[in-house]
Amino acid sequence: MTKVLVINSSILGDASASRALVAKAVAGLRARHPGLQVVERDVGAAPLPHLTGETVGALRRDAADASPAEKATRALSDQLIAEVMDADFIVIGSPMYNLGIHSGLKTWFDHVLRAGATFQYTANGPQGLVPAKPVLVVESRGGFYSEGPAAAYNAQEPHLRAVLGLMGLTQPTFVRAESLAMGPDAVTPAMDAAAKAVEAWIAALA
Ligand SMILES: Cc1cc2nc3c(=O)[nH]c(=O)nc-3n(C[C@H](O)[C@H](O)[C@H](O)COP(=O)(O)O)c2cc1C
Repeated sequence: MTKVLVINSSILGDASASRALVAKAVAGLRARHPGLQVVERDVGAAPLPHLTGETVGALRRDAADASPAEKATRALSDQLIAEVMDADFIVIGSPMYNLGIHSGLKTWFDHVLRAGATFQYTANGPQGLVPAKPVLVVESRGGFYSEGPAAAYNAQEPHLRAVLGLMGLTQPTFVRAESLAMGPDAVTPAMDAAAKAVEAWIAALA
């Protein structure tokens, strides 16, 4: 059965632009794969626990004498990694918050980026271990960062490209809905263009 892993990270619920575009992508996938199985992690509405000094050891070793907190963290990380590995498609919704990604999405990556599981260190640097698959990242922003003076402050897309690439997902497609805080005259064309870009991603899938 075809599976899509959906990661939503907006805190705006039904008012979220990224959630609407992620839903459109899932609907497009379902049209192509009628039995589509959707696995969702909503790290905006229900953030995962941050790693702490008490739990981070669980990501480095799988010891019999691990504490209950370490065992729980290891089990969660294993589950999240299995979801990434098993997915045929990955769709991520990422609002820009303070120039970067939501801390809930950051925490998801903290659990998923595990040496020996999703990447490994080699003499030539880190190497991703996640098999290649189509990845769509919907970015929503109040301002405009694609070009011009604000582009240098965009810590969202370069970060996402880097952490996805670290695990081997080196060809993500980014769809940007920008200028969403600049009034209705800006929002409608921005959302229309983003929706068309989502459709184009679906149409280009093998
Ligand atoms: C806490 C917070 C911080 C934000 N920081 C930025 C920012 O740095 N740059 C920007 O362009 N928009 C910023 N925004 C606006 C959001 O990116 C914008 O509302 C976007 O539509 C949110 O995505 P969503 O509609 O999918 O929830 C911020 C919004 C919030 C709530």
